[in-house]
Amino acid sequence: MIAIRADLLDFTAAPRFGSTDMDGVRWRPDHWLLVGSDGRIVGAQADDPGPGWERHDHQGRLLMPGFIDTHVHCPQLDVLASYGTGLLDWLDTYTFPAERRYADPGIAAQGAARFLDALLAHGTTAAVVFPTVHKVSCEALFAAAEQRGMRLIAGKVLMDRHAPDGLRDDVEQAERDCEDLIQRWHGRGRNAYAVTVRFAVTSTPEQLAMAGALGQRHPGVYMQTHVAENQAEVRWVADLFPQARSYLDVYNQHDLLHERSILAHGIWLDAHDRALLRDTGAQIAFCPTSNLFLGSGLFDWQGAIDTGHRVSVATDVGGGTSLSMLRTLAEAYKVQALRGTKLSAWVALHAATRGAAEALGLGTEIGHLDPGAVADVVLWDWSVGAVAQHRDAVACGAVADVPAQPLHARVFAFMTLGDERNVAATYVAGRPVG
Ligand code: GUN
Ligand code: ZN
Repeated sequence: MIAIRADLLDFTAAPRFGSTDMDGVRWRPDHWLLVGSDGRIVGAQADDPGPGWERHDHQGRLLMPGFIDTHVHCPQLDVLASYGTGLLDWLDTYTFPAERRYADPGIAAQGAARFLDALLAHGTTAAVVFPTVHKVSCEALFAAAEQRGMRLIAGKVLMDRHAPDGLRDDVEQAERDCEDLIQRWHGRGRNAYAVTVRFAVTSTPEQLAMAGALGQRHPGVYMQTHVAENQAEVRWVADLFPQARSYLDVYNQHDLLHERSILAHGIWLDAHDRALLRDTGAQIAFCPTSNLFLGSGLFDWQGAIDTGHRVSVATDVGGGTSLSMLRTLAEAYKVQALRGTKLSAWVALHAATRGAAEALGLGTEIGHLDPGAVADVVLWDWSVGAVAQHRDAVACGAVADVPAQPLHARVFAFMTLGDERNVAATYVAGRPVG
């Protein structure tokens, strides 16, 4: 049984979009978070809990639920920050060649370990992950997550066309591989399986039909894919599926949209598409650093709010440029600024914690500090380096003649200036890691 002392920040409900008011924000400065021997949160209190508890004193640090990255590619650490391309030539030039290496079990195992350790070091304790088309790359990821006790959603990538040799599967073998992976890994430890259609371009209609049927046969499994990221991609999908009303409709026609569907990007959607997301319960993973880096476009979060469909936030490494969810949220703010809306720190941090957990159907397990939740939590230094430290001091009213600022100002500066260097400790199920 451990007790962790820090400033506790989490959310009890979704904060209002476009506002910095405190609705839904739970702020408990200088409290002790109590964690039972089962790795679950027991409660929180201002008073020292006494000698019965193993005390971890992080006074002056910020404690939040670990971040949930709802879309990221394990093998793409190898292609982070690759120059000069948009989505389709980026895939051909950099990404597909890198993913071919993951056919090798040794490379897949090393890559999975490197990737999950990096997530934890960046303050992310749960993720929805693409490995590669190779079954072994998916097994390596599940095995590495189980070893670390992490919450992971993943699945073998499906692609049976428009991909180079060594990266294509076929309908029958892919189906057998998925069935086997679901049987062995779905629900084992904290792993869950996702039917993983790379995108409509790289699957034949027959493979999409197989993927849809697979999801229907296994109602607990997730579905992850990409949608409407890039305009050239959208045109290609329209050519490949002339009978579909839209890119998103391709997935709908193959029974791939439901409450456990996570679709990355969703930049080039129309009002019908947004209503379809709302009605099916599917969520868009907004990937701001990727959308900026690949020049894909500016996601319309306000449109999502107006329609009422779910939005989470994701790094999309290696199209995205950092595994840090803080950096990602800071870029999300800038993308929304370019669209003429303002993303509060409350909305952003909620989306990366409780909001993501609820959208994944994991709201009783992770994403907040309620009693009974698994203690996947991260301790953060409020500021690192002289400039950020000064900015934090200003927010706290610790600089002469400058009045203290509201809590939102301090948290927003932390979100905007912080990154993985601010991580002081990461706990998975109540156990310090790394
Ligand atoms: N669309 C299909 N595959 C990918 C990928 O690996 N990254 C991104 N950003 N978009 C994709
Ligand atoms: Zn992606």
